[in-house]
Amino acid sequence: MKVLVIGSGGREHALAWKLSKSKEVEQVFIAPGNAGTALVGTNVEIGVNDFEKLAEFAQSEEIGLTVVGPEDPLVNGIVDFFQERGLQIFGPGKKAAIIEGSKIFTRDLLQKYGIPSAEYKAFTGAEEAKAYLHEKGAPIVAKADGLAAGKGVIVCETFEEAEKAIGQILIEKEFGEAGNRLVLEEKLLGEEVSYMVFSDGKTIKPMVSSQDHKPAFDNDKGPNTGGMGAYSPAPVVTGELEVEVLETIMQPTIDAMRKEGKEYKGVLYAGLMITKQGPKVLEFNCRFGDPETQAILPRLDSDLLPILQSCMGKTLSEQEVKWSSRACCCVVMASGGYPGKYEKGKGIFGLGEAAKLPATVVFHAGTRQEASKVLSNGGRVLGVTALGDTIKESIANSYRAVDLIKFEGAYFRKDIGQKALNREN
Ligand code: AMP
Ligand code: GLY
Repeated sequence: MKVLVIGSGGREHALAWKLSKSKEVEQVFIAPGNAGTALVGTNVEIGVNDFEKLAEFAQSEEIGLTVVGPEDPLVNGIVDFFQERGLQIFGPGKKAAIIEGSKIFTRDLLQKYGIPSAEYKAFTGAEEAKAYLHEKGAPIVAKADGLAAGKGVIVCETFEEAEKAIGQILIEKEFGEAGNRLVLEEKLLGEEVSYMVFSDGKTIKPMVSSQDHKPAFDNDKGPNTGGMGAYSPAPVVTGELEVEVLETIMQPTIDAMRKEGKEYKGVLYAGLMITKQGPKVLEFNCRFGDPETQAILPRLDSDLLPILQSCMGKTLSEQEVKWSSRACCCVVMASGGYPGKYEKGKGIFGLGEAAKLPATVVFHAGTRQEASKVLSNGGRVLGVTALGDTIKESIANSYRAVDLIKFEGAYFRKDIGQKALNREN
């Protein structure tokens, strides 16, 4: 079968890499892809929101399954668009993708079904929001309702910061339409983890736990990024906690979506805060996490293709999903200046040597090929990933590969996975 992966980041390279290993997959196409995806498949120059061209391509190439990476096309209804044309595609339809598309929808859903999350209130007017802020005080978290490229959340430590955030979102419209409505919610304290499940609308099968590193610099300092690295498993998620997450959050959410007439098929990603009172939802995403996927898929022993197909065909309960007990770590190498301004087009060296290391795979994110050279082409450039028998070993293995790779201005966090090691000590 031929498959098509939509997107161009590290997550999509990991998906294409894993799918290319499937017994049933003869060819992987990636639209638009990057220099790394070209190593495991064929890049196609079509943008992720160009549904017409993507569907035409899927039809003419007789693609057996399309897998969508980013949230934008999902929230905009790419799954419905493909299905209306008789094309097989993996992911939630537009109605269900609202779980990421509207923070207010999700908070109302969680409240209605008693699923643990932060106390919140939604607003369209700045005056009402400010009155609520007067009542609740700081710290408090301000969130634009809609999709804001991962930037619509402002964690406010002081009253003044919160007042400013309300203005930024509702009055200055810094996040555009996404900020037509605003959520103010309680700041939760604890350790953050990422938890993803496969869902066929009814049955769920968990992936292994992982932890992202959103701030740009070591010790969680600096501005938030798309994620500077991830590792799996996250030891904060004990076996007991995992059961609690599945029973009090993941399964009830899938059931609630079904009851609301928004059957959820695909990957459901929960950003969780492990608080003193137990796990609570910070956010849901309607897709695979990035960079979590890079640290998780190398641990999947099963073939990914039939798992994805069983989600859409509602046969997940019969599907085996087997994970390796090894650990995995992904260190992101970014362009100097990211997440602010940065330069592109820097030559990347050492990729060949790094790839020769055992149990190592360098996932590309912002890269492009020019003649024989690989050049940087984005903020997050590479996700240098390695397995190990322990978390400690996987971390050491990834940094060994990182040390071999050079490009001008490259920077990376030196403490990916350190939280897990601190816990073990
Ligand atoms: P999100 O875009 O929803 O993932 O939020 C970005 C980051 O803001 C999260 O990864 C958390 O670190 C933080 N955050 C969001 N909501 C809360 C909350 N209610 N309490 C504490 N931190 C939060
Ligand atoms: N790693 C965060 C995300 O995928 O949204």
